Amino acid sequence: VLFVIRGRKRRHGEPPLIKGWIPYVGKALEFSRDAHRFLEGLQETHGDVFTVHIAGKYMTFILDPLVYPNVIKQSRQLDFHEFSNKVSPVTFGYPPVDHRFPGLKEDISRTFKLLQGDSLTPLTESMMGNLMMVLRQDHLEEGGGWRSCSMFQFCYAIMFEATFLTMYGGPAPGQRHSGMDQLRENFIKFDNMFPLLIAQIPIWLLGRTSANREMLLNYLLPKKLSHWTNTSQFIKRRSELFDRYDSLRDIDKAAHHFAVLWASAGNTTPATFWAMYYLVSHPEALQVVRQELHDVLKLSGVEFSGSEDVALSREQLDRLLCLGTGSHANKRGFGGLHVTTERPLPTESSINESLRLCSSSMNIRVAQEDFSLRLDAERSVDVRKGDVVTLYPKRMHLDPDIYPDPETFRFDRYMQDGAEKTDFYKDGQKLKYYLMPFGSGSTMCPGRYFALNEIKQFLSLLLLYFDLELEEGQARATLDPGRAGLGILLPAADVRFRYRMRRV
Ligand code: HEM
Repeated sequence: VLFVIRGRKRRHGEPPLIKGWIPYVGKALEFSRDAHRFLEGLQETHGDVFTVHIAGKYMTFILDPLVYPNVIKQSRQLDFHEFSNKVSPVTFGYPPVDHRFPGLKEDISRTFKLLQGDSLTPLTESMMGNLMMVLRQDHLEEGGGWRSCSMFQFCYAIMFEATFLTMYGGPAPGQRHSGMDQLRENFIKFDNMFPLLIAQIPIWLLGRTSANREMLLNYLLPKKLSHWTNTSQFIKRRSELFDRYDSLRDIDKAAHHFAVLWASAGNTTPATFWAMYYLVSHPEALQVVRQELHDVLKLSGVEFSGSEDVALSREQLDRLLCLGTGSHANKRGFGGLHVTTERPLPTESSINESLRLCSSSMNIRVAQEDFSLRLDAERSVDVRKGDVVTLYPKRMHLDPDIYPDPETFRFDRYMQDGAEKTDFYKDGQKLKYYLMPFGSGSTMCPGRYFALNEIKQFLSLLLLYFDLELEEGQARATLDPGRAGLGILLPAADVRFRYRMRRV
């Protein structure tokens, strides 16, 4: 009891300890109010490495990007899955993936490769068809004038439905699901509660969240999925493997599917919004990107007329340098997977620049033993078993030393002499990692290639088919700090924009 009340004491060799005066809660309130500002303040006082007591946990934050490679390397002592295995089941409603399901964890991990490599081609093609269908049926109106809309809602409606159809399939070829608006509404309501669920607030304390989640799970029950067509290989494989475990009930399988729905739509949709917002609010950038799109189509012998559907192939998407590409996430610096490629790497993109500005993912690892965490050749700090070691790349993304004028959107920030710019410096030293929206190391987001392609497809269609303008008299969109640390930030308020079909 005394330990809980007093909390722990800093030992020699450990980082500075910030506890707060409320037992258990510690600094949770300040952290959840605006994590970025909170950590910035602590960094000024305590330096780049410090431990904060937050809701019963001791979190050691590492804010110096130069030491990230060393920390990421120490994966034997720092485990990602311990945290996610504890939090995800409670959040999404499936039983913990433990000894009762031997092999399930490894089986699930193996399905991730169906989001990458050769599997990316059918996924990308399917997404293109679904995006085109939703756009054509809901938004493409020949000869229509300007239409006014809220941008976040617009992105959400299109991306949520097209992603859903691409991952889980539709009721019949070329058909849309009924009840999609209700499903999306419930998803958004659940998503709004996500930070509280991750903070392990019991779901029964969160109003109708439990009922919302039940509705979402009912939509994804195996007997429904089994009737749908054009389901992705990824979801098909997962359904097959869930069926091998007798102790998984249908509702548990639905909860696993729901976790993937959240992972695939929960971040991609706001990321799409920001990518669109920054382009529409920077007409000069939008013009360059649109021109590049037409150039790529022309290179492929396609004369865009606007009347027929566009089907940009994966290769064409890869050629869009200003927009960025799915393969971009492969390269060194972008979260850290080292893959060489024969193709010239794409230049910096406006999508990457918007991800730099809107992403706020923390990379969380749990210490498996008491050990000395090596930061660089001279420095190390002691951490205790169970402590949460956290990289917070947003500090790096907004560091003026690395990115001059960091709050400003510059679509060409990662371009240099027509090639990709990969050299970014901190204190005169070249950074190995400089853009990390998708996590790091072996646990990097497996959907990153697909996510980047989806965003690129959405923007391509938008720019090809529509004139786009922000409505006048509005304040600049700002980031809602509410889910800092948990992925892509939402806008604090929606913005109004106008669109009409382009005359080609
Ligand atoms: C995990 C970001 C889109 C599937 C993650 C992680 C991050 C992330 C930061 C944790 C990685 C770590 O801590 O090392 C994003 C962002 C996206 C996006 C910013 C969009 C802009 C997607 C999509 C899918 C997906 C489209 C699926 C189609 C997953 C899965 C995991 C994950 C399954 C868990 C991996 C594991 O348990 O090892 N994502 N993601 N994500 N993401 Fe994404």
